[in-house]
Amino acid sequence: MPKAKNKSSELTPRIAIAIMAAGKGTRLKSKHPKVLHEVGGKPLLAHVIAAATKVVPPKDVFAIIGHEADRVRQALTDTGINFVLQEEQRGTGHALMVARDALDSYDQVIVLSGDAPFINPETIKTLRDFHSSQHSAMTLLAAHLQDPTGYGRVIRKSKKSADVKAIVEEKSATPAQRKVHEINAGFYAFDAKLLFGHIKELRSDNPHTEYYLTDMAAIFRKAKKRVMAVLASDPHEILGGNTRAELVEIDWRMRMAKCRQLMSDGATIFYPQTCVIDCDVEIGADTIIEPFVQILGKTRIGSDCRIRSYTVISNSVIGDGVQILPACVLDEATVMKGATVGPYSRLRPGSEIGEGAHVGNFVETKKTRLGKGSKANHLTYLGDTEIGEGVNVGAGTITCNYDGERKHKTVIEDGAFIGSDSTLVAPVKVGRGAYVGAGSCITDDVPPDSLAVGRARQIVKEGWVKARRGARLRSDKAVSS
Ligand code: UD1
Ligand code: CA
Repeated sequence: MPKAKNKSSELTPRIAIAIMAAGKGTRLKSKHPKVLHEVGGKPLLAHVIAAATKVVPPKDVFAIIGHEADRVRQALTDTGINFVLQEEQRGTGHALMVARDALDSYDQVIVLSGDAPFINPETIKTLRDFHSSQHSAMTLLAAHLQDPTGYGRVIRKSKKSADVKAIVEEKSATPAQRKVHEINAGFYAFDAKLLFGHIKELRSDNPHTEYYLTDMAAIFRKAKKRVMAVLASDPHEILGGNTRAELVEIDWRMRMAKCRQLMSDGATIFYPQTCVIDCDVEIGADTIIEPFVQILGKTRIGSDCRIRSYTVISNSVIGDGVQILPACVLDEATVMKGATVGPYSRLRPGSEIGEGAHVGNFVETKKTRLGKGSKANHLTYLGDTEIGEGVNVGAGTITCNYDGERKHKTVIEDGAFIGSDSTLVAPVKVGRGAYVGAGSCITDDVPPDSLAVGRARQIVKEGWVKARRGARLRSDKAVSS
């Protein structure tokens, strides 16, 4: 086998990663672009970009996009990578033809598929290093699959050789070739000069009338250039999502792997098969996740928490020692250490529940800060509200934050007590240590340490019932006689 030469340019080749992501994904029968379909809680393409940017900096990563390009670009613009437009999608080979100007100043081009999200950085590095050491024109990642249906087959020069003669697509394969279980994963390393020197030799005379990048293998063989294959260590890593069923299977594998990782880091997840945990979620040690919980987006949960069943948490931050009781919904909320939430609480964006605070059943909060040790335990709506420490918000309290046009703020200072069934009409402020009598409608600020009662005075009419009953009896008698 040829050895790597000791030329410095060969030791540090300039490497670009191209991600093919322009396809429509016809087999998904979807109006959304294929690579934006999600697995493990984020788009297919986002997984591939994450792996690529662990090998080369974002400035050297190029996603080739086409179908619904603007949406794809918008969804992934934060990654800092480059986008190349393939306006008409005429095959994987055509995708690289279109990206030529962006890529031909590099020494090596690694090509990934935007619909195969399990690719990991180590495998990309293996492909890169094997390719460099072998001086190949093209190196592809191969895998042995029990069921190779749908994949391109790798036809080797001989059984034991690492040299590849051709890749044949399923539709063009002979019955004998279809029996080959070694498949093309759709990840390649190319010598950039050779790739762009020969890419115009691709033809579209195949059942799909597309330019197949896979045909580069046979083109290079003909030109007496080296084509090699390196085997993926885990055949599952190459799984691509062409159909809904495949996407669901990929999602499942990804989430189960995530649960195993979280458990090896010290969290307990009971019945992980029933939980939906996205791949960017973080959970601290000794936290317990009960069955049927969903933890989504970039949620971070501290240690020693318990998240009880039927709770859905998205993009939230939860401190240590927090109890989330059954059936809560948290979205972009922060819960500080030692707080208790639920059952049946809804924390909407901008909710910040302070240390040791309590939010109870049928309480909804939005853009609301509940201070340390404060409580809102039953049937309450708190919107655009600033609540200090040690405040008690009685059952059925409502902040009236919306006047039909604009939102207004309610401030409740430290140690205040809001009696049950009160409405606080914002903008309004309840001062430090003040009391609001139960059933009040508070429209004016309440000074510190005072009592405000805003309700109709109770009247009692003694003997009223008896008198009414007597009158009714008399009139009934008059009718029947
Ligand atoms: C491809 C390979 C096949 C391999 C399989 C692995 C070809 C011809 N075949 O088949 O050998 O076993 O991947 O998963 O390459 N794309 C573009 N522009 C296009 C067409 C496709 O960017 O014009 C993108 C798609 O969005 C997708 C990727 O290229 O992300 C692969 O295309 P796809 O149609 O899924 O190829 P497969 O049929 O899976
Ligand atoms: Ca595919």
